Amino acid sequence: MKTFFFLSIFCITCTLPAFSQCLDDQKSLWLGLRNSLIFDLSTSTKLVHWNHTEDCCSWDGVECDVFGHVISLQLDGLSNLANLTHLNLSNAGFAGQVPSEVLRLKKLVSLDLSDNHYSSIVKLENPDLEMLVQNLKELKELYLDSVNISAQRNDCLASAVPDFSANFSRLTTLILTCCSLLGSFPQKILEMPSLQNLDLSGNMQLSGSFPQFPRGGSLRTIVLTNTNFSGSLPDSISNLTMLSRLELSNCRFFGPIPPTIGTLTELTYLDISLNNFTGSIPLFHLSKKLTYIDATRNSLMGSLSAMHFEGLSNPKLELDNNEFHGQVQELSNLSSSSLQELDVSSNHLEGPIPKFFSELDQLTVLSLSSTKFNGTVQLEMFKNPNLDTLDLSHNDLFVQSTDSDSGFPLLPNISWLKLVSCQLQRFPNLLRQSRLWNLDLSSNELRGEVPNWIWEIGNGSLRYLNLFNNLLHGFQKPCKFPSLRVLDLNSNQFQGELPIPPLSSRSVDYSHNFFTNSIPNDICVFLSNASATALQVLDLSANALTGGIPPCLLNKNWKLGVLNLGRNNISGTIPDTFSVNCSLQTLDLNNNVLKGKIPGSLVNCPSLEVLNIGNNRLEDTFPCMLLKNSLRVLILRSNKFYGDLQCTEAIQEVSNLQIIDISTNNFRGDMSLVSFSNWRGMISASGNNQSRSNQYLCYGFSEISGCGYQDTVTVTMKGLEIELTKILIIFTSIDFSNNKLYGKIPYSIGDLKSLYGLNLSHNELKGSIPASIGNLTQLGFLDLSVNKLTGTIPVELASLTSISFLNLSHNRLFGKIPEGPQFQTFSAASFEGNLGLYGCPVDTSCKKKRSKSI
Ligand SMILES: *[C@@H]1O[C@H](CO)[C@@H](O)[C@H](O)[C@H]1NC(C)=O
Ligand SMILES: *[C@@H]1O[C@H](CO)[C@@H](O)[C@H](O)[C@H]1NC(C)=O
Ligand SMILES: *[C@@H]1O[C@H](CO)[C@@H](O)[C@H](O)[C@H]1NC(C)=O
Ligand SMILES: *[C@@H]1O[C@H](CO)[C@@H](O)[C@H](O)[C@H]1NC(C)=O
Ligand SMILES: *[C@@H]1O[C@H](CO)[C@@H](O)[C@H](O)[C@H]1NC(C)=O
Ligand SMILES: *[C@@H]1O[C@H](CO)[C@@H](O)[C@H](O)[C@H]1NC(C)=O
Ligand SMILES: *[C@@H]1O[C@H](CO)[C@@H](O)[C@H](O)[C@H]1NC(C)=O
Ligand SMILES: *[C@@H]1O[C@H](CO)[C@@H](O)[C@H](O)[C@H]1NC(C)=O
Ligand SMILES: *[C@@H]1O[C@H](CO)[C@@H](O)[C@H](O)[C@H]1NC(C)=O
Ligand SMILES: *[C@@H]1O[C@H](CO)[C@@H](O)[C@H](O)[C@H]1NC(C)=O
Ligand SMILES: *[C@@H]1O[C@H](CO)[C@@H](O)[C@H](O)[C@H]1NC(C)=O
Ligand SMILES: *[C@@H]1O[C@H](CO)[C@@H](O)[C@H](O)[C@H]1NC(C)=O
Repeated sequence: MKTFFFLSIFCITCTLPAFSQCLDDQKSLWLGLRNSLIFDLSTSTKLVHWNHTEDCCSWDGVECDVFGHVISLQLDGLSNLANLTHLNLSNAGFAGQVPSEVLRLKKLVSLDLSDNHYSSIVKLENPDLEMLVQNLKELKELYLDSVNISAQRNDCLASAVPDFSANFSRLTTLILTCCSLLGSFPQKILEMPSLQNLDLSGNMQLSGSFPQFPRGGSLRTIVLTNTNFSGSLPDSISNLTMLSRLELSNCRFFGPIPPTIGTLTELTYLDISLNNFTGSIPLFHLSKKLTYIDATRNSLMGSLSAMHFEGLSNPKLELDNNEFHGQVQELSNLSSSSLQELDVSSNHLEGPIPKFFSELDQLTVLSLSSTKFNGTVQLEMFKNPNLDTLDLSHNDLFVQSTDSDSGFPLLPNISWLKLVSCQLQRFPNLLRQSRLWNLDLSSNELRGEVPNWIWEIGNGSLRYLNLFNNLLHGFQKPCKFPSLRVLDLNSNQFQGELPIPPLSSRSVDYSHNFFTNSIPNDICVFLSNASATALQVLDLSANALTGGIPPCLLNKNWKLGVLNLGRNNISGTIPDTFSVNCSLQTLDLNNNVLKGKIPGSLVNCPSLEVLNIGNNRLEDTFPCMLLKNSLRVLILRSNKFYGDLQCTEAIQEVSNLQIIDISTNNFRGDMSLVSFSNWRGMISASGNNQSRSNQYLCYGFSEISGCGYQDTVTVTMKGLEIELTKILIIFTSIDFSNNKLYGKIPYSIGDLKSLYGLNLSHNELKGSIPASIGNLTQLGFLDLSVNKLTGTIPVELASLTSISFLNLSHNRLFGKIPEGPQFQTFSAASFEGNLGLYGCPVDTSCKKKRSKSI
């Protein structure tokens, strides 16, 4: 049997032009490889013939594609290399079963087959891990990251290591990251006398609890990150006296951290984040080498004191998102402490910020947000010479600073300062902060003008300035914002003409102010500037802007991803100038006085997810062409749209829509022809996917990690306008109300399994209510009022348990109102104005019954 791997040279293949001969750079690469290999010239049948004069595609053992890229390399001679001690085939693009030739390499000391997962998966089934173990007895290091060794059996790893200890006595490093392993912790592994490094991370199906650890184990590193291991960490962890690195992040461990862990004198790195450890954090007084403790997102409690930080060398402590409470005990002589990073945010610590925090000379990061600290804080207390990042946000603090300029920086070395919700009444004097680049002063009580020295901080080092939610009304002149990337003035009292955004900006938010006049044409000059094409988010919503939309905002190949001009007085038509490759993801023009049609060139924006043009004077037919692609939110509410809802070809492809509101228009058409079966966005329910259920629609951009811009829409429900400031990816609703739709409600409505809101009220719908509505188990809001619906209310409706608003009034329904737990909570008004509905809650006897039972 001839076994060989296919070796694809990925990076080289991507950008080359089409030649059918071996490419020069490919040839020299391979000759380089040949020269680096030590092989016997007299026995070699292939390598010896690789030389400059020949086309490398004709070399023996080499195969090229039509472009001259080497795509495969025959390594069947491999097993003759009986004296080979190190074989590293990592990251080489191999796929398929590991060849049995490898088992003949008896002298192998290290074998690395990791990360060959680009095209498909490398498997270790036959031979399997056990055979490898039994044959390669000299092996010290085995790297199998991303090799699929799950084979076909359960509990593979445990059964694959029956005699690891005896036969594999030299193994020091065993890396089995992301190997599709199943089963419980392979206890035998702990008996391997030389094993120092064990990595089982990324095997999500490994479960069960830790075994007891025998004394004197040689283990130095245990990595179990992203597995399903659970239970408590046994006391016997202290038997692993050589342990230096323990990583248990994102597993399902719980219970207290054994205090014995504090006796591990070699421990340097401890990551137990994202579990559910409880109890207090042990004192690590003996672990003098400990430099990193990450206990983020557990349920640790108790109080914190300086004793927790003492004696450790240069430690980084991440204790955020736990249940620590009480005042942090003060200690006076900590300046010698070498604590470097401390994050206790999102806990329940209270009282004043302890003074010793500001005396830690080595401290670079101090994050105290959302911890319930209170009292007055003088900013200059943080005189730690190395402090680079300080976050005091969201406490009950009253932060102040002296105004006088001492000639020295207020905070010696700060580059990242977050003071959100700190009751600031004045800008702290940060002029001399030469390294400051990220300043967040949002949700304070800053009033008046933004002082112009802010632009001179560190000679223009400031990149990110957030002044959201203050009482500011203008800029001190002259004002030039030099190198800002992100400027957020949202929710202040700025007036007059819009300031032209900083040239270098990526995101500019001027929304919720009192800016007037039209959008200055200078904005086009600004946008034409080369560096300005980097603008990705422009939010001018909720001001008092007038005039038209400058066509230039849309017509160049900007990277603009979010354009929000909603809630102004902008008039005219929407320019039909969306350029090819338009990258808009959100276009919000709602609540203006725009007229005309939806521009056809909007189809040039294939990534459009949110289109909100509600509350204008637009006059057009239903924009079928937009339903393709990625559109998730479509709001046409309160315009003069007309025609029917039939789309010839596009509607067949409707896929991702999750919110559609076409209410209060002049749509007239046969509702029964609308086929809901293609509305995947409302059927497949991203919501069924647990991991996405708490994600929001948002626009991420390069300067800020996570969600850079969060989309907001207003939906009308329960007669109220509800502003969804974060659009949950799983929120779905249909509002067709207030049109002239006729015909029956199609049965296929029942396919929209994840629908939350359905409003078809104020139309001319006929026929009966389809029983399939009873299949909409997520439905919370249903309004079919003021139509011409006939028949009885289907009993299936009464089985909807999540429904909290129901209006079937003013139809031609009759018969008994079905009984169900939720149905009885609605008032008679939900059913009034029909032909002859009876039963609770419309019968007067019900009221009596109810009042009796109360
Ligand atoms: C290069 O290889 C070819 C084919 O094996 C052989 O005929 C030729 O003599 C070699 N040339 C040199 C310079 O070694
Ligand atoms: C392996 O090494 C030994 C001793 O150095 C030598 O005798 C033997 O020929 C080598 N085998 C191969 C296949 O190179
Ligand atoms: C194998 O090679 C890769 C890439 O050069 C390297 O990152 C890795 O450390 C090597 N493996 C071993 C065991 O030396
Ligand atoms: C690993 O192999 C098993 C059995 O062949 C297979 O069921 C599983 O899907 C594979 N895993 C991956 C990630 O390819
Ligand atoms: C090695 O493994 C084999 C098979 O599991 C077993 O019979 C043998 O006792 C083990 N020990 C040694 C030292 O070979
Ligand atoms: C993890 O374990 C729990 C039970 O302890 C089980 O319900 C869950 O399905 C497991 N997850 C995976 C991915 O195996
Ligand atoms: C390991 O530690 C536990 C608890 O600390 C202890 O009871 C046990 O005797 C130790 N085991 C061995 C084999 O030493
Ligand atoms: C964590 O453990 C605590 C105490 O046992 C328990 O009340 C809580 O529900 C657990 N939290 C999670 C997310 O499992
Ligand atoms: C520092 O405080 C410790 C108690 O944590 C005390 O034992 C030690 O004597 C103090 N050192 C000085 C110089 O005050
Ligand atoms: C801070 O909170 C504590 C209770 O946690 C309270 O006793 C104290 O009066 C508060 N101090 C201030 C200044 O509000
Ligand atoms: C200020 O911080 C930077 C980076 O964190 C560091 O390299 C520098 O040494 C610090 N300067 C002082 C005076 O501590
Ligand atoms: C939907 O509801 C109808 C009527 O209640 C029922 O016959 C049908 O089986 C349901 N379909 C699904 C997919 O649940």
